[in-house]
Amino acid sequence: MSDLIKNIKGTQDILYEENDIWQYLENFIHHYLKKYGYSQIRTPIFESTYLFSRSIGSQTDIVSKEMYSWIDQGGNHLTLKPESTASVVRSFIQHKLGKKNPINKLYYIDTLFRRERPQKGRFRQFNQFGVEALGSKYPEQDVEVIALAYNFYKSLNIDNLNLKINSIGSPEVRLKYKDVLTKYLLQYKNKLSQISQVRLEKNPLRILDTKVDFEIEIIKNAPHILDYLNKEDKNHFSDVLSHLDSLSIDYTVDYKLVRGLDYYCHTVFEILSDNLGSQDALCGGGRYDYLVEELGGQTTPAFGFAAGIERLILVLNKKHLPISKSSDIYIVITDKKYLEYSLKISDSLRAENLIVVNDLLRRSLKSQMKDANRLNVSHTIIIGDEEVENKQVVIKDMKSGNQDYIKFDRIKSYFRNK
Ligand code: HAM
Repeated sequence: MSDLIKNIKGTQDILYEENDIWQYLENFIHHYLKKYGYSQIRTPIFESTYLFSRSIGSQTDIVSKEMYSWIDQGGNHLTLKPESTASVVRSFIQHKLGKKNPINKLYYIDTLFRRERPQKGRFRQFNQFGVEALGSKYPEQDVEVIALAYNFYKSLNIDNLNLKINSIGSPEVRLKYKDVLTKYLLQYKNKLSQISQVRLEKNPLRILDTKVDFEIEIIKNAPHILDYLNKEDKNHFSDVLSHLDSLSIDYTVDYKLVRGLDYYCHTVFEILSDNLGSQDALCGGGRYDYLVEELGGQTTPAFGFAAGIERLILVLNKKHLPISKSSDIYIVITDKKYLEYSLKISDSLRAENLIVVNDLLRRSLKSQMKDANRLNVSHTIIIGDEEVENKQVVIKDMKSGNQDYIKFDRIKSYFRNK
């Protein structure tokens, strides 16, 4: 016998009740983001590979080693989306959305792909929701998105949040800082891990968020980017912080927070959870004022963030979600000759928005009742010889055990009054 085909490492099947949580969250996300005036955008699941190398940056982990890329039969270089910001910006430029509206506030729920090492909270196929606000350069835009992200978790009663925020300034500031930081780190070059030695040449800022103990010690005395910001950047950042203060949103300014994608500038943030283990980022984002221009559009300031849905589910207290698990009604028939009655009654009750289940396995009365119990229905409708003769059914309340005899034409109104 051939080996059983299993799902690919880093992907998962979502089964049974788990989907109730996903559906609840998806509805919650749509509703929540609309309250802030964001509208949904759906972009294709794959794009030109060039879009990602150009926007995320060719030296980043994502582009250099994690993308699922291939060349199709037509010779096109394609990639399964590893993130959504680049696609949203591509679409914004392509459809000239900036001409239609001075500000475009967009959100998405997307399935993404990164060939990372799978572990708790880290998958190769995963889901994000996120927002991209294109058009405003002002700190109030930063604050709107950060507060939206923070309050999202709060409104789902998720505690132990740690909001980290930093400013990485304009590209000129970063260039200057890169030199200063490189000089500092060069003193310790031989002590740095191999990967950091490579980063020292290509992207020294990434060394700041190292997880290696002895490197953390080295970083402690590294120069801070905040000291190199120009006046405008400093004012922008202090406005963001004072708005967060006035909204009573707790944060920590973390000079080590640089984010792993190249398009960011000015404000960057992440929200971490104590309950996640090593993959502790619930969400992350920031400003990317140069990406639209970089991808060929008109200069457009922008701010966004994205949140992992699998990680959200890991920290969610699922017990308190208002999810109704049970079906409403199970129709039990004592003989297959009553199938037609059963199907007709089912349809008429579904038209009343009730959840109705029929037996499709021609089971005995006893097994059907057992199945009804397993499904935790509130009522069973029993159709047997005597009932059909009298043009009625038995309706059993599964909790109290009470039974009512109801005429065929009264079944709908019986449930309407329940
Ligand atoms: P990111 O930090 O790469 O940012 O991802 C955002 C969130 O997606 C992470 O905080 C995490 O919750 C989740 N995530 C990322 N990778 C995985 C994975 N392999 N498995 C499970 N969850 C994962 C971005 O993607 C940017 N596009 C965010 C953004 C939007 N910046 C501006 N606008």
